[in-house]
Amino acid sequence: MEATEKKFTMPRIGDKAPAFEAVTTQGKINFPSDYSGKWKILFSHPADFTPVCTSEFMTFASRKAEFDSLNCELVGLSVDGLYSHIAWLRTIKEKIEYKGMKDVEVTFPLIEDITMEVANLYGMIQPGEAATQAVRAVFFIDPQDIIRTIIYYPLSLGRNFDEIVRVLIALQTADAYSIATPADWEPGDDVIVPPAGSCGTAKERMENKEEEQTCYDWFFCTKKLAKEKVEELKNN
Ligand code: BEZ
Repeated sequence: MEATEKKFTMPRIGDKAPAFEAVTTQGKINFPSDYSGKWKILFSHPADFTPVCTSEFMTFASRKAEFDSLNCELVGLSVDGLYSHIAWLRTIKEKIEYKGMKDVEVTFPLIEDITMEVANLYGMIQPGEAATQAVRAVFFIDPQDIIRTIIYYPLSLGRNFDEIVRVLIALQTADAYSIATPADWEPGDDVIVPPAGSCGTAKERMENKEEEQTCYDWFFCTKKLAKEKVEELKNN
């Protein structure tokens, strides 16, 4: 690496969420310590007063009750300043009606990060995409402040909020029931039991008669997990 070349670091899944103090639209926060014991979604957007970001913020804010019921706090970030954030959120509330969403109040904190300190700490600046704006990053951080999932989107692609909710529910379900979730899993679908290598041999798992399982091969067994069992995790 050239001496002048800047080294970009990114936290990884399984890492402790890097700590920082920041000014937000809801006052100063210490992250993640202010939210310990809760799930957290820390997400970035490229810029205030842009259309994709506006559609995303309206969607996040409109679905906040769902995140609350999943014991999950939302924290947004862009490299804009506080007064830009405040003006943009006021415009969203007072002027924008989009896909049935109107009068939308963003009550979760939006971090001002003009210095890009937090964005750099979390690898949200990806110079090949944009050197002066954050990409659309989504960090899922558990109650023990461990990063559990990271999703990145480019500037032009608005996030899928059904997927964001699905990931959060799947992580919580995996923790609560010691299972894994197969492709396209939704609450009520069969789950994978137990995750490879977690307990017992594959042969023992296939022979386990206590739980009704469907085995597709020695390494691939599923069992039922009722939707109600997944929904029990809400509001806990
Ligand atoms: C947008 O949110 O619309 C946007 C932001 C930065 C680049 C491209 C689109």
